[in-house]
Amino acid sequence: MNPRLPAALSRNLRLPAICAPMFLVSGPDLVIAACKSGMIGAFPAPNCRTIEELEAWMVRITTELGPQDAAWAFNMVTHSSYPRFDAELELIATYKPPLVITALGGPQRVIETVHAYGGVVMADVNSIAFARKAVAAGADGLTLVCAGAGGHTGALGNTAFIAAVRDFFDGPVAVGGGISTGRGIAAVETMGADLANLGTAFIAADESLAQADYKDMVVEATASDVVISASVTGVPASWLRQSLERAGLDPDNLPAAQAVNFSHGGEPQKGWKDIWSAGQGVGAVTAIEPAARIIARLQDEYQAANARHGAMNTPSKMLA
Ligand SMILES: Cc1cc2nc3c(=O)[nH]c(=O)nc-3n(C[C@H](O)[C@H](O)[C@H](O)COP(=O)(O)O)c2cc1C
Repeated sequence: MNPRLPAALSRNLRLPAICAPMFLVSGPDLVIAACKSGMIGAFPAPNCRTIEELEAWMVRITTELGPQDAAWAFNMVTHSSYPRFDAELELIATYKPPLVITALGGPQRVIETVHAYGGVVMADVNSIAFARKAVAAGADGLTLVCAGAGGHTGALGNTAFIAAVRDFFDGPVAVGGGISTGRGIAAVETMGADLANLGTAFIAADESLAQADYKDMVVEATASDVVISASVTGVPASWLRQSLERAGLDPDNLPAAQAVNFSHGGEPQKGWKDIWSAGQGVGAVTAIEPAARIIARLQDEYQAANARHGAMNTPSKMLA
């Protein structure tokens, strides 16, 4: 077992990885399926239009998951313009997600509440400066958003980002961006990460909330189809070229970036609804299939990668 991973996270983990939170994609079905297959399952709060719906999701997740399943994670916006923060914090105190992943704002506003029940707070960061800031603010762990990620992507390559963070932080680190294979999970673990953060690999899962056309597009797409642009949401994000074209946009000549605004309070932002995101690992997605099958394949690949590297690999391996 990896000593850097707190027990709240390593519990029943059979693959050192998170099924990452994805706007308009991750719901209770995907979270539950991931946790039952031995991976941490996560969803972002803005996927629920109302706080009542959010509570219903949390009830379902906590009811359907048992002591034999991996931990689940709640991803929340902590930006000061996000209006549902207080109500969501109350739900956290009640339903006690073992992992809270903060995004678009600092982690400090949730730490006390989460620590009170033994939970862990990891902060999504996309730069070394933000990583330092999150550690200084008391985050237990970091999720490094690297180049190649789906959604709001980072610019740093994972090798350099992990190395830079390991210079000043010895706590749990998750790494995302273009990882869609078990070999990729083994690789980032070897580089110093404790968990891989996989989003794109699960967009086309049966349990994902993505509409059928989006899943088909992900199955067809390769890394060359991923266009990075700030024009849809105001911050650099990875978009599928085909969906930009379908929305009447020219991927090679996109309009100027919009202003950042997270005050939609759960209303799907038009950009995400009509224009679809995927990261550079999209080429590894070749079928619409159950999350359990995707995770079983990732576990096989992870084991094979570690067996190939044998004694060279020292980090704790989940699959003894
Ligand atoms: C469609 C989509 C939506 C996403 N939405 C969110 C989100 O709401 N909150 C968040 O913190 N990260 C979000 N992400 C980022 C993922 O949590 C994760 O960091 C990323 O998918 C990892 O890179 P990968 O897609 O290359 O595996 C999203 C990613 C995708 C593909």
